[in-house]
Amino acid sequence: MENTINTSPAQTEKKKKILSCIQPSGIPTLGNYLGALKNWKLLSDEFDSAFAVADLHAITVRQDPQKLRKQIMEVLALLLAIGLDPDKSIIFIQSHVPAHSQLAWILNCYTQFGEMSRMTQFKDKSQSHADNVNVGLFAYPVLMAADILLYQADLVPVGADQKQHLEIARDIANRFNSIYGNTFTVPDPYIGKNGARVMSLQDPTKKMSKSDPNPKGFVSVFDAPETIMKKIKSAVTDSEGGVYYGEGKDGINNLMGIYSCCTGLSMDEIARDFEGKGYGDFKAAVGEAVVEELRPVRERYEQLIKDQAYLKQVAAKGAENASRIANRTLNKAMKKCGFVLP
Ligand code: TRP
Repeated sequence: MENTINTSPAQTEKKKKILSCIQPSGIPTLGNYLGALKNWKLLSDEFDSAFAVADLHAITVRQDPQKLRKQIMEVLALLLAIGLDPDKSIIFIQSHVPAHSQLAWILNCYTQFGEMSRMTQFKDKSQSHADNVNVGLFAYPVLMAADILLYQADLVPVGADQKQHLEIARDIANRFNSIYGNTFTVPDPYIGKNGARVMSLQDPTKKMSKSDPNPKGFVSVFDAPETIMKKIKSAVTDSEGGVYYGEGKDGINNLMGIYSCCTGLSMDEIARDFEGKGYGDFKAAVGEAVVEELRPVRERYEQLIKDQAYLKQVAAKGAENASRIANRTLNKAMKKCGFVLP
């Protein structure tokens, strides 16, 4: 199939605006997919949407330049592979729109040291990267606020770990608006209807994570079907033996959640379908459902990643459309602060 690109922006003004970003920090997991990315596709059908690869955020921890460059394009390809349409959504790379860095600087001056010191992610990351507690890591939520406020986003789909950052974005917007009059839309978090929280396959009390040292704990979006089947089959369960949702059954609850997301079946329906059947049968069904869920994403990705020229074209068009909106907001904010516009 030929990749083509439509260069006329087809955004309408009336719909609510939604924005989200993903860091280019390696191949996402099934958890990232079911918990966030799959919903982005649904949201893009309903709202005016913008999605970015948050590469500026990535350098708050040390990156290998070669690897970073590769991962930025991989994540861009992934955004298209999950079904986002560059003719419908603005899809761009954060660093291609300088307004993000510019507004972030301004907002830094409207954010208090004390507020940032309370951010739990900063506290965690200063421990896990104790040799590189840089100012960017500290100011990370301000850059995120700039991302959101530049697009006047009404809604921001975020996971639980980013909720505190969204709160700060709201506080910064309210503060700026109360000093200078209405400048920024105050964003609301968007909590998905089927907010899947996928847990580790090896320790179902912990969130599934791509940085899990045990690769059996997570399924990567691009794992081969055989690998997916193997990982699901070796998922930790319990010795009780019944497929139903219940206390002390974290492993089975997790697999049921995954199965439910892939098939649309409710927990009760799943329990009914697997009544009298063992975990072996259930795991095989879950594995197959996951394979089929990820298959089109992987196939489309494999095609896209080979077409770097097309990806660059998408990024260029995205940057152009994103800049138009972002610069409008940046100029507005700069004027209010007292800058002389060039
Ligand atoms: N900090 C987010 C994460 O790591 C990524 C991100 C950057 C983001 N800018 C954003 C998410 C703006 C939503 C809106 O997951």
